[in-house]
Amino acid sequence: MERKQSTPSTDIILKNQLIIEDIRRINQEYQLKKKRNKKFNITTYGCQMNEHDSEKLKGMLCQMGYDETDKRENSDLVIFNTCCVRENAELKVYGNLGHLKSFKRKNPNAIIAVCGCMMQQEHVVKEIKKTYKHVDLVFGTHNIHNFPKLLSQAMNSDNMLVDVWDSEGEIIEGLPVIRKLDVKAFVNIMYGCNNFCTYCIVPYTRGRERSRDPEVILSEVKDLVADGVKEITLLGQNVNSYGNTFDNGYTFADLLKAVNEIEGLERIRFMTSHPKDISDDVIDAIAECEKLCEHVHLPVQSGSNNMLKAMNRKYTREHYLDLIRKIKTKVPNATISTDLIIGFPGETDQDIEDTIDLIKEVEYDASYTFIYSVRTGTPAAEYDNQIDEKVKHERFEKVLNVINDIISRKNKTLKDEVLEILVEGQSSKDKTILTGRTRGFRTVNFPGDESDIGKLVKVKITNPRSFSLMGEKVE
Ligand code: SAH
Ligand code: SF4
Ligand code: F3S
Repeated sequence: MERKQSTPSTDIILKNQLIIEDIRRINQEYQLKKKRNKKFNITTYGCQMNEHDSEKLKGMLCQMGYDETDKRENSDLVIFNTCCVRENAELKVYGNLGHLKSFKRKNPNAIIAVCGCMMQQEHVVKEIKKTYKHVDLVFGTHNIHNFPKLLSQAMNSDNMLVDVWDSEGEIIEGLPVIRKLDVKAFVNIMYGCNNFCTYCIVPYTRGRERSRDPEVILSEVKDLVADGVKEITLLGQNVNSYGNTFDNGYTFADLLKAVNEIEGLERIRFMTSHPKDISDDVIDAIAECEKLCEHVHLPVQSGSNNMLKAMNRKYTREHYLDLIRKIKTKVPNATISTDLIIGFPGETDQDIEDTIDLIKEVEYDASYTFIYSVRTGTPAAEYDNQIDEKVKHERFEKVLNVINDIISRKNKTLKDEVLEILVEGQSSKDKTILTGRTRGFRTVNFPGDESDIGKLVKVKITNPRSFSLMGEKVE
């Protein structure tokens, strides 16, 4: 708790501020001439890490005098904040970049910038230089704080500017942030990952694990609560190793307990827990802290010990099932969700049977199931026992059917139960329907008006569907 924000961070923020002021002046001249502010459009792919980086980019851009627009074709600055966790995420970015060729021809003064995880891979930057020459600026995940300088340089150059750092520096706190104010918010508690699961690109794109100071996190949560936020999700690639980089023994369980004390906050969630690291203290905290929701996202990836070993997950099926038993004993109403990878190199029919067997034993409440995607630069990409695409898809369907049956059966048991819902907003399809989540992270829809948005209400489940629950508010 004693650690203070270091001087280099403050230094960077000050230098940034000067450049931000310069660009703001240029944009004001533009505003006077054209009678409108310059506009930016940003598309964010991937996880909450990228979402949060986009919030920082937006914060800096608003200080520079830009307005945000959702119309790419009307923008003076187009940004893609990219993800490369699976191939389809990358393909979307390449497709969209291709579409921007004609936009750049029509708007030669507009700036096109690409950043985020994809840019941390050399082969991607090479491809952009070769095929997408209309891009003006390429930067990575480690130098986002230098964005004002990079933008200013890109505006004054006819060539593509590429600046990607190989490794992370210190955590830069204090960058301006524009958040979409909502009932719920995500707060990063750590960055990076040290685990090197053999399929995963994240450790290469996000660098080594670094934890943010608890003081900085707690003050961010308090500010959000003062702005009306009711639910906070604490984020990290492996939240259970939060604090490992400190020398004072402060742990994730300590942080959970401290956040639980914040007045006005209603709910706390966290993501993601690695099964090798989740501690008894964290499970106890879920049982004891009233604001901490009874939902654990505990990605298993596979139910087969052979696969877990090949994936370098560092736990066994038996250890995982022990954890589940412990959670269910200490927090009897806990819901459990997972991530699964189907078709990892070398996977046999027996391995899939082991996964199905584990799914049936745990009886998950939700699962994010992915077909294995080869990621250049990861160890598993080099394995020569890759699984045929057709086989991967067949296995994927089989696993999905098992999971869907379980979820739909569990949902049915909720008929007539009265559950506490945090109302998040109106349904996008029908404004007379409100939508929110239970503490266990199930989505519930019910008729109501907007005065209930942001409130905790009691809803009786009348029609449990396979993937969402319909209900009625009870007074
Ligand atoms: N740090 C988190 C999540 C990381 S990425 C964790 O360890 O759980 C989110 C999920 O994407 C992973 O849990 C995994 O299921 C999936 N994933 C990662 N790399 C993948 C790949 N190459 N192919 C398919 N799915 C992948
Ligand atoms: Fe990827 Fe594994 Fe790290 Fe999660 S824990 S980000 S799956 S390497
Ligand atoms: Fe997130 Fe995708 Fe990067 S999942 S950490 S944005 S590779």
